Order: sequence, then C-alpha cells, then structure tokens
Amino acid sequence: MDIAINLNANSLPLHQQLYEELRACILTGKLSPGTRIPSTRAMAKSLNISRSTVTQSYEQLLSEGYLETTIGSGTYICTQLPDDLLHSKPVEVTEKISSPPIKLSKYGKILANTANVPRVCEVEEEISFRYGRPAFNEFPIKLWRSLLSKHCGASLEWLDYSIEPLGYKPLRCAIANYISRARAVNCTPEQILITNGTQQALDLIMRLLIEPGNTIALEDPGYLSARLIFETHGANLLAIPVDDSGLVVSKLESHSNHDIRLVYVTPSHQFPTGAVLSLPRRLELLAWAIQTGALIIEDDYDSEYRYGDRPIPALQGLDKSESVLYIGTFSKVLFPSLRIGYLVLPKNLVSIFTRAKWLSDRHLPILEQQVLTEFIEQGHLERHIRKMRSIYDQRRQVLVQALHSHFGEKATVFGDKAGLHVMVHLQTHLSENEIIERAQQVGVGMMSASTQYLKPTSKNEFIFGYGELDEQQLVEGVRRLKTVVDTNISKTT
Ligand SMILES: Cc1ncc(COP(=O)(O)O)c(C=O)c1O
Repeated sequence: MDIAINLNANSLPLHQQLYEELRACILTGKLSPGTRIPSTRAMAKSLNISRSTVTQSYEQLLSEGYLETTIGSGTYICTQLPDDLLHSKPVEVTEKISSPPIKLSKYGKILANTANVPRVCEVEEEISFRYGRPAFNEFPIKLWRSLLSKHCGASLEWLDYSIEPLGYKPLRCAIANYISRARAVNCTPEQILITNGTQQALDLIMRLLIEPGNTIALEDPGYLSARLIFETHGANLLAIPVDDSGLVVSKLESHSNHDIRLVYVTPSHQFPTGAVLSLPRRLELLAWAIQTGALIIEDDYDSEYRYGDRPIPALQGLDKSESVLYIGTFSKVLFPSLRIGYLVLPKNLVSIFTRAKWLSDRHLPILEQQVLTEFIEQGHLERHIRKMRSIYDQRRQVLVQALHSHFGEKATVFGDKAGLHVMVHLQTHLSENEIIERAQQVGVGMMSASTQYLKPTSKNEFIFGYGELDEQQLVEGVRRLKTVVDTNISKTT
C-alpha cells in the first residue's frame, strides 16, 4: 500500500514528522481502522529513511493506541480507536494558501467573456429535435466491442506512446483510401493528421495560422462552435452571406481591402441552411484563394449523408494550389464521443502541425485508432453508412411530410437534401422563445437557428435534427408542436 507522506529534511526530527503524518491520516480517515500498514522495512525503503526512524514512530503510535500488532501478521490501524479521537477536529494536514488573483492570458480573458461550455440538458424532452446526435441504437455495438477486445489483447503496442503525432499510420492509410474513394479528396496518408474531432483541428489551425486581429471570413449563418474558436483566438470576423448556392463568393471578393487569412466553409452541406456550394462558386472560391493567398477551411462534417443524388465531391479535390485544409469527422457517421476526426493538410503545413499536435496532446489513444482502422479496412464503415443513409432518408421524408401535413404553407422546409437535420421556417404570431417554451411543455425539444447568425436575430427558423428519432417519434413530435403553436394561449411574460 502506498501512503502519501511528506517529510521535510529541515523541519522536525524525521521520526516525529512521520508520527504526525500517520496520526493525521488516521484521524482524518485516510487510513481506516483495520488497515494494514507497511512493515518498518518497507516504509523505510519507500521513504528512503532508516528503519530505526520508522520503528521509533510506529512505537509511539502503538503506545498511544493508534496502531496494534498481531504477532506474525503485521501492524494495523487500531480497530477500536477512542471515540473522542475520531470525533476530534480533523487535523489540518496542509497549510491553507490564500489564492492570489488569477492573471489570465489574452486568450483566457477573451474566453472568459465569450465561449462557455454548453450546459448538459438536465431534463431531456421526450422527443428532442435538437440537432446533433446520430442514431445510437443503430450502431453495431457488438462488433465494436469485439474489435476493442481483440485489439486490447492482441499486442501491448497500444499501451505505449505512439511515435507518430500525426496518428496511427494504418488508420491514416485507411482514411486516405476512404476519402479519396468516397469524397474525391486528393491526398497521401502523410498529409493526414488524426485529431480529436473537428474542434481540435480548428483549434490547431487557429494557433498556427492566426494572430489576434487577423481577419477570418465565415458563412453567416454558420457553425457556432467554429465561430467561437475564431473569436477566442482574437480574430476579426467577416460575415459572408449564404444563399441557395452556398457562400456568396462575390461578397468575399468585394472585401479586397481586408487582408483575409482564412475562410471557413461547409460546402457540401452548409451548416445550418443545408445549401450546397455550386461548382461555379467552388471554382470562384479557389481562384479567389490563389489570388489573395488566403487559405480555405473545408468542414465536411456530414457529407456522407446525401439523399437522392450522388455525394458532392469535396472542394479539396478541385484544389490545385494547396489552398484547402480539409476537415472530416467520425462524430456523425459513427458516434461523437469517439472523438476522432482528421485534418488533411497542404504538404507544406504537415511538419508544423505535427509539432503542435505533439506538444498539445502527443496523439490520440491508440486502441480506438486500431479498432477504427479495422472497422474501415473490413468495409464495416461504408456498410454502416449505406445502412444509415437509407434509415435517415426515410426519417427525413417522414419529418418533411409531417411538417407539410400539419403546418401546410406555414412551414417552409429547406436544406433537406443531405445530413441529419433540416431547417424550418415557421410562420406564426408566436415568438421563437414562445414556441420553444410551449414545445417544451408538451415534451418536445426545439432548437432555434438564431444563435448561428453572427448577429442573432429572431427569424422563427429552427434546426430540426432527426437522426436519433424514429418515425413514430417524428410524427408525434410534429403533431404536438402543431397543437401548441395553434393554441391561443395568452402571452406569457
Ligand atoms: C458544422 C459542423 N462541423 C463539425 C461538427 C462535428 O464536430 P466534432 O468533430 O468536433 O464532433 C459538427 C457537429 O455538430 C458540425 O455541425
């Protein structure tokens, strides 16, 4: 047993200090009655002091009734400590240090005023349209468990530091293969950095490429978590509007007076509107990047789920000038707590990102990377995506149908060709907050799109996530929503 004992060479005699420390552990309950304590030899060895010093301390504790010995068995904390000793005030083992005022870095100060950790929803509504989750109950958990168990026992490689901060090499090869096939991404495994999801990819990009005061252009509305990262790194944000063909690139071009370092886009499925960046705009954006020297961040978060027509190839695959940093994630196609994503880097950025990743967190856990490698190599990933695409397609149609039949023209659905959510504009005399509150009262969770705008405005636009809801829940959720939106309850304050 290890007992944390602090001995100080310049303080009281060592036997006295050891006595005090052990006594404090007993009185504060850290060592409970009946616990066997190390032999004098073992204690002396672990503290690097003489055995006679330890014996002296133990004898004092024995004589005062804190310890007892059993012949041939060892020394124990006395099982019957006098009550008054146990109820005495706990001994202050450490001195209290009054905390000095915290001096935050520039980053820390911005962070303190902007981004907050989202609150975990304490009461989850019975039917939640809140966006984000895939269908967990469709995940092949037995297969995943057997792969975990297989790789856990196969070798001890995963217990060590991986020497590659870029990530487990076979996984990078499997991802390179997969994204060149499925997303027409043009890269080698050496350009792939395995990240802890999209969020870490964005964080590393900010740290390496952005200085406070630099300008980043981004879609408006756009992904709030990306915007928060940009803001906390002190970037100036330039909001570029989005229409049915995605980012309005001509607006970007009109800001020639800004030195735009980066532009963040979700071209395959604009978040949250669902627009797809058209081919002419893609080419225009790439040409603009070459001309200005800006880099493009392509966040390809859920493009695997495209309904009706073929998935749209990634912007990165059209890039001939190493202007695109491509981000992919397994949060939507597998599950978000896996925390595995990937960043495909232009070749000239690989070395600096490798160093930053190593200093930041060494690398991701290897066991999960090994499991995921086999999952991809054996074709399970693409099988799972095919299966889920058909399930989500069905759910999407049921949701859109339910919205039309309950709300008619009062609900305008857009962005329903891909992903795990649709955007819905509800035409009603109620405010967004009233809709959300009323829906909550009937067990329906709603998410407004207003926070995704740079200047939040209440437009009665909602993001309807349908990934984890079955058909019955989708229909019932819309039915309940309709009843509360229709009810003429006097306005609550
Ligand atoms: C636009 C966008 N990008 C990326 C992600 C995934 O983020 P992560 O990979 O950090 O889980 C999401 C998830 O909601 C998203 O909406």
